[in-house]
Amino acid sequence: MTGTIFLLGATGFLGSTFLVSLGKKLPQYHVVALARGSSTTSLEARTNILEKYHPNLSVVEGALEDESVIKEESAKADIVINCASSNHLALVKVILDGLNERRTKTGSSPIFIQVSGYSLLSDNARGQPPDPLTSKVYTDIGFSPNDCPEHNPLRDVDSFIIDTASKTQNGIRTLIFYPGWIYGVGEVIGLQRTTVALRVYTDLAKGFGYAGTFGAGLAGMNNIHVKDCASALLIILQAALDGRADVGTEGIYFGSSEQPIVPHVEIVNKIGDVLHERGIIPHPGSQPLKPEHASVLPDVAWSAMGGNLLGHPQRLKRFGWEPVESRKISLLESLSEELNVVVKTMAGANN
Ligand SMILES: NC(=O)c1ccc[n+]([C@@H]2O[C@H](COP(=O)([O-])OP(=O)(O)OC[C@H]3O[C@@H](n4cnc5c(N)ncnc54)[C@H](OP(=O)(O)O)[C@@H]3O)[C@@H](O)[C@H]2O)c1
Repeated sequence: MTGTIFLLGATGFLGSTFLVSLGKKLPQYHVVALARGSSTTSLEARTNILEKYHPNLSVVEGALEDESVIKEESAKADIVINCASSNHLALVKVILDGLNERRTKTGSSPIFIQVSGYSLLSDNARGQPPDPLTSKVYTDIGFSPNDCPEHNPLRDVDSFIIDTASKTQNGIRTLIFYPGWIYGVGEVIGLQRTTVALRVYTDLAKGFGYAGTFGAGLAGMNNIHVKDCASALLIILQAALDGRADVGTEGIYFGSSEQPIVPHVEIVNKIGDVLHERGIIPHPGSQPLKPEHASVLPDVAWSAMGGNLLGHPQRLKRFGWEPVESRKISLLESLSEELNVVVKTMAGANN
């Protein structure tokens, strides 16, 4: 089997790790990667890196906001995978428009895989730990995004995808993948190699002069090693291609390991220690964000980093997926290496 995969987010942490797996397991597919130059690396240099990891890859220049590019490439693709943004409703609408155009013209049923995330599951606990009696642990069977709190920005996006899929007869096959906190170091030198939350915490620490937690930092979420996350995404894609995957309202796939939940404060303490050792901030450890700093941070950050995000994957297990790498190294064991990369990148070194 072969076809064209339009991949958004190939230069990112998850997307680049996924591309490595794609190159190994599905080299016969043509991958069209959306990419742009960054502040440190030209588009040409990034294209050269991407081309090393898949033998049949071409790059199309563009941003997520370039609607004509996104629509045109989606309309040409058999599969679109969005590893770039989980909360961009306008983007998702354009992708689905493009795929719908393809469906109408060719009579085929294209595949759309959206990478969403456990932040949809947030209980908005404002830094308080899970309550063993009342905290909800969601599972992906029988789950609807509408089960989650209304103001969560992922809810509208994911509900829109599911509604659109159910409205198009013989239509677009949609699958939504929800990872927990993705940790580990990505293997593609020159592209993004660390998880976004670590970058956010480190930037805040540099800006405010201390490592700060959301509230007391006692909230936490399930986690998954980036290689397991990429293998999960690949297995979902392969199952969709073989017609074995549930799609639409049932096309919901959680992805996390059975490793213990790590309260944010343990991660942020370590960030404070490392930044202090390197002379970037004056004190080690962490403290709750000061009111004047906490109040300017958006609700979405509070929801993701101050809430408990608890999920239990069931569908991936049916495909025989196992979190192999997460069993070898835990989030806390991986943290020093991740922070080394973050700090090097901060200093402008090639990561
Ligand atoms: N990391 C986690 O722990 C985690 C957990 C759950 C869910 N997720 C979701 O998984 C997805 C991937 O996360 P990630 O950690 O891999 O993120 P990431 O490392 O920040 O990568 C984001 C990717 O999207 C691209 N992108 C972002 N904005 C863009 C724009 N305006 N135009 C063009 N390209 C744009 C980036 O391109 P550039 O390199 O050009 O910026 C990059 O390739 C996201 O949707 C995220 O919400 C992540």
